[in-house]
Amino acid sequence: MTAAIEATGVTRTYELDGVRVPALRGVSLTVPEGDYVALVGPSGSGKSTLMHLLGGLDRPTSGRLVIGGRDVSRLDPADLARLRNETIGFVFQAFHLLPRTSAVDNVALPLVYRGLGARQRRARAAAMLERVGLGHRLGHRPNQLSGGEQQRVAIARALVTDPAVLLADEPTGNLDSATGQSVLALLEALNADSGVAVVLVTHDREVAARARRQIVLRDGVIV
Ligand SMILES: Nc1ncnc2c1ncn2[C@@H]1O[C@H](COP(=O)(O)OP(=O)(O)O)[C@@H](O)[C@H]1O
Ligand SMILES: [Mg+2]
Repeated sequence: MTAAIEATGVTRTYELDGVRVPALRGVSLTVPEGDYVALVGPSGSGKSTLMHLLGGLDRPTSGRLVIGGRDVSRLDPADLARLRNETIGFVFQAFHLLPRTSAVDNVALPLVYRGLGARQRRARAAAMLERVGLGHRLGHRPNQLSGGEQQRVAIARALVTDPAVLLADEPTGNLDSATGQSVLALLEALNADSGVAVVLVTHDREVAARARRQIVLRDGVIV
């Protein structure tokens, strides 16, 4: 299997009011294509920082990071944005949907950078919403949807570009446990069916135990 993402000795130090905060202190990990990995660790251990790096939203302070076969240190911001759009889907705890925009148009948004016409974008978005069980909610705006439905829209938006990797940072953190379970079941089914690799940050031991493997972060290093 080829690696979708490869990090070698990656560090990230934030500078805050002249104080250096070492959030990651040398992390090496490989995410093979089709992987399903749970990233666990206490609050402040660097999980979100690592997710931002793996998704090309941020760059390492030092170390080597290769996403989709490309070394991010060699990419200018526009190339990195393109790589991100082509390779990575993100799902966050707080959904981050556009509030005044329908479900189908939220999901269609990442396709704007693909040179597809509006009709094709909508057709693909509608098909993706169908796959996450929301084919009957295309015209609903986020405030007309439940939390679980909003997270399904966010998952559809993350996957509509057919990325190699889905990065989900505590995707069930704002959901009640039954709704959270159904969102996780959806992620597992999408991983199994479409082969998208999933990296999932979670506090829930049971959820982590269901992943193919677990990575534990503590104080910015893998333990
Ligand atoms: N933008 C930032 N500026 C300064 N420090 C930050 C920033 N983001 C995170 N940190 C610090 O880096 C450490 C790791 O944070 P984070 O990656 O958010 O951890 P986690 O997601 O595991 O809770 C924490 O000590 C946090 O306070
Ligand atoms: Mg976090």
